[in-house]
Amino acid sequence: MNRKYRKTVIAGNWKMNKTPSETKEFMAELKSIMPKGRWCDVALCVPAVCIPTAVRTMRETRVGIGGENCNANPSGAYTGEIAANMLTDAGCKYVIIGHSERRAMGETDADVNAKIKAAMAAELIPIVCVGESLEQREANVTNDWITLQIKMALNGIPEEKIRKIIVAYEPIWAIGTGRTATPEQAEEVCEHIRTVIRKLFGAKIARAVSILYGGSMNEKNAFELLAQPDIDGGLIGGASLVPEKFVKIIEAANQPTI
Ligand code: PGA
Repeated sequence: MNRKYRKTVIAGNWKMNKTPSETKEFMAELKSIMPKGRWCDVALCVPAVCIPTAVRTMRETRVGIGGENCNANPSGAYTGEIAANMLTDAGCKYVIIGHSERRAMGETDADVNAKIKAAMAAELIPIVCVGESLEQREANVTNDWITLQIKMALNGIPEEKIRKIIVAYEPIWAIGTGRTATPEQAEEVCEHIRTVIRKLFGAKIARAVSILYGGSMNEKNAFELLAQPDIDGGLIGGASLVPEKFVKIIEAANQPTI
């Protein structure tokens, strides 16, 4: 982390978990144990039907609510889809874009790029996910793959908007597997992501972008991961479903930074 130049962000990704009633219970519990200090931004990206409950229950708190996906089009005949401005109007501040679980359902780099543009036009903060498979890591093409994903994702986005984007490095082999990247492995790729952004948009912007790590981050390994200079927070799946665990990760972000 480096709080001098960029924000620390602890974001939860609930995926397809929790009903609106369960959301209400979770938020009440979270509120009661939420740390008072403001060393990081806190986000919870929840299933679409849980957004109204999440927004309502967390209105007076510092927790920003987000969607887990959006459509790139502003409106129209896209049955089952949700437009970015619908998320904004429902009270969302964030939206996850390009999660590997969605890419596995057919989302392309071009889709990711279009969705980021739609999200930003609707004034949402996109949390853009990139990450390599185990096969790619073993073939030593991780950095090449990540470079491509970042270049495609950020293609055509004006420079002044880049600093508002949050990037999440999520190695696919670490998601939901309990097999976390080591702090060194995670730092290496997060540093690489910052280098790619620097080459594309310059040092000042690269320095300002928050880059998160995601993939089996939990209350036990968060401190060490967050101690890395280029890891500015976490995108947390499983551990964000339990208020005590999520709060412990927020507390782990309360550490000295350079
Ligand atoms: P996990 O999920 O923390 O359960 O590995 C992370 C994610 O997919 O965002």
